[in-house]
Amino acid sequence: MTIQWFPGHMAKARRQVTEKLKLIDIVFELVDARIPVSSRNPMIDEIISSKPRIVLLNKADMADPKATQQWLAYFKEQGIHALPIDAKTGTGMKQIVSMSKEVLKEKFDRLAARGVKPRAIRALIIGIPNVGKSTLINRLAKKNMAKTGDRPGVTTAQQWVKVGKELELLDTPGILWPKFEDELVGLKLATTGAIKDAILNLQEVAFYALGFLGEKYPHRLKERYALEEIPEDRVELFDAVAKKRGCIMSGGWVDYDKTSELLLREIRSEKLGRLSFETTESIQQ
Ligand code: G4P
Repeated sequence: MTIQWFPGHMAKARRQVTEKLKLIDIVFELVDARIPVSSRNPMIDEIISSKPRIVLLNKADMADPKATQQWLAYFKEQGIHALPIDAKTGTGMKQIVSMSKEVLKEKFDRLAARGVKPRAIRALIIGIPNVGKSTLINRLAKKNMAKTGDRPGVTTAQQWVKVGKELELLDTPGILWPKFEDELVGLKLATTGAIKDAILNLQEVAFYALGFLGEKYPHRLKERYALEEIPEDRVELFDAVAKKRGCIMSGGWVDYDKTSELLLREIRSEKLGRLSFETTESIQQ
């Protein structure tokens, strides 16, 4: 479900997260490993302030492994703990617990020195819609929790979900908005399927995605669509893919809607392999 974020929703979502922060020791900030910057909330640093945090690069199974390694180095350089995970199959779940213990060691040692009885680490998952928050909670909880819905106004009683003996999660995640006023961010979110197709112009998204692939992953396009060359001109490239896939209407006109749908479906279902639409270099530029 895609939320229409209005200022009132944003303020309420922020307030709800701020309330939850009072209950926990650590934030798990969930981002999409394919677009680790565009899938973040633009105010996240300010909202979570000094709370310890781990950035979880989710859907790492779909991201370009080389790019993910660079992102990990990038976060490390910034002093931010980060982990690649795949909430769908459960890769990285053990590391979430061990990294949380490492991040909070000092705090818990301090509490122990004051005679406070040891207790489980309390955590909150935060992220934009569709980044995999419910999937991760279900995976960690090892059961199917009800999806609370992506409505930022929904309030439910807080409940803790046990993850082994050492971790407890709030059962409802913190849902924050993406930086949707930035057009490129919107295109990347739409390409990866985080924004529903009805919201953005499908052809525009497909044109962006194809241009990106032509530049960064030309060999994958060549292979998938049996192209000998990658035309520099994006429209020519689009037409070449359309022709190879028979997306042609009567009169020989290219069916842009059909080609756009096909291309985005194939990107999202990994027919072109594991792709990352954001690299550390592209962000520094
Ligand atoms: P949210 O709570 O943050 O809104 O996200 P949610 O868990 O609903 O996940 C959104 C979509 O992302 C789901 O796909 C989910 O299966 C998929 N997903 C979550 N984590 C991962 C991951 O690590 N790897 C991969 N490949 N996919 C992941 P969906 O199409 O909405 O549903 P379905 O495919 O599960 O039926």
